[in-house]
Amino acid sequence: SEPNSTSVKPNHQDAGKKPSTSQAKSSVDVLIIGAGASGLYCAMTAAQRGRSVLVVDHANKAGKKILMSGGGRCNFTNYVVEPENFIGNNAHFCKSALIRYNPWEFIGLVEKHRVPYHERDYGQLFCDNSSKDILNLLLDECAEAGAKVQLKTSITAIKPLPQDSDKSGFMVETSKETIHCRSLVIATGGLSIPTMGATGFGYEVAEQFGHQIIKTSAGLVPFTFTDKVGEVIASLAGISLDVIAFNERISFPRPMLFTHRGLSGPAMLQLSNYWQVGESIHINLVPSVDISELLRQAKAEHPKQLVRSVLSEFFPKKLLLALQDLHWSDLKDKELANIKDETLDAIGDKINNWTIKPSGTEGYRTAEVTRGGVVTDEVSSKTFESKLQPNLYFIGEVLDVTGWLGGYNFQWAWASGKACGEVV
Ligand code: FDA
Repeated sequence: SEPNSTSVKPNHQDAGKKPSTSQAKSSVDVLIIGAGASGLYCAMTAAQRGRSVLVVDHANKAGKKILMSGGGRCNFTNYVVEPENFIGNNAHFCKSALIRYNPWEFIGLVEKHRVPYHERDYGQLFCDNSSKDILNLLLDECAEAGAKVQLKTSITAIKPLPQDSDKSGFMVETSKETIHCRSLVIATGGLSIPTMGATGFGYEVAEQFGHQIIKTSAGLVPFTFTDKVGEVIASLAGISLDVIAFNERISFPRPMLFTHRGLSGPAMLQLSNYWQVGESIHINLVPSVDISELLRQAKAEHPKQLVRSVLSEFFPKKLLLALQDLHWSDLKDKELANIKDETLDAIGDKINNWTIKPSGTEGYRTAEVTRGGVVTDEVSSKTFESKLQPNLYFIGEVLDVTGWLGGYNFQWAWASGKACGEVV
């Protein structure tokens, strides 16, 4: 089993024993668990304020998700960041940190380090070369400010020290040594991509100190299908289309991709953040045209045409034949003149409002983020300190804050990391 996923020992095992700071080999002002996006940003901010900072991570490399992000080019922020780009049980929680840390602050850092970048659709900013540039930027800032990063280190126990003692804070037992810290920051991220070191450690720590967790699930993740539609979708693997993906709550005009496993692409990933098991999803396959109207008009002007000839300009042939097979196979050789207007409307509806029910998602194996997490009502939105345990902080994805696709999750990591780094 994974040795680094050892859970934190519950408090009661230590009942009666008062941990003493003298047992600690080292003592720091700020101990940050998790050398990912939020942890490194917090570390550099606190170290720049003169705090002694140690970041520990059980992985053999810092920032693995930064490295794999944005297809290797890290979509590090977005020109337009609004609270509406985030979901969570408390929609207001993210506002304070986001207002105080706008995208230009990170862009300034990127420019300071001469990292070449470019804008893509919807204000998304990517590195020209490699995600490594962003990780190196953070590690350089940490090193310059004097924050240390210690890898291959797992946590075996966290013991709070009594508030009234001369040295308050925590004794943290790691696989290497026991460390005393005044402030403890949990920046261990979410559950997505377990092969990259993701664990539920942050949730365990939160629970140790009485925090509640909003049930977690995979977000920004492709949909899977098991029925006949699933077979058809798999047969179309590789085809992509500009669509509007929507449900009762939200709509996303974005590209969609058919894959061997289901539906992916930005439109589907975005909608997955707003999807609950058992719900159908809706896809407008030709957003620019009212297909019912087009078919009625074609019937009037070219009555001998077939439905598929009218629609051929909108789809690759394979997809068009698959849609025909699914939705109007009995009419495939009928001329428009012989099809009732209402039937044409129904075909139009299948194209402009294709309604299908996913059997699920690809799950944490491929998800970009985790929905749910530490309940934000129990954490300060200004400092990110726990309202239940003084000097304990939660930042980044471990919290119940999930961003859209498009650089928003990193923007949240930077913003929460900075806000916390300014007070620890
Ligand atoms: P993050 O995951 O960055 O860091 C957590 C750290 O904690 C890791 O280093 C981990 O090893 C460590 N850790 C975990 N458990 C531990 C334990 N028990 N003990 C010690 N250490 C532990 N976002 C975006 O805005 N733009 C993008 O382009 C992308 N692209 C992207 C691609 C892919 C494939 C994924 C999976 C994700 C993205 N994201 C993204 C999302 C983004 O990567 C994510 O939201 C942030 O990295 C979250 O930052 P955190 O600091 O919260 O966690």
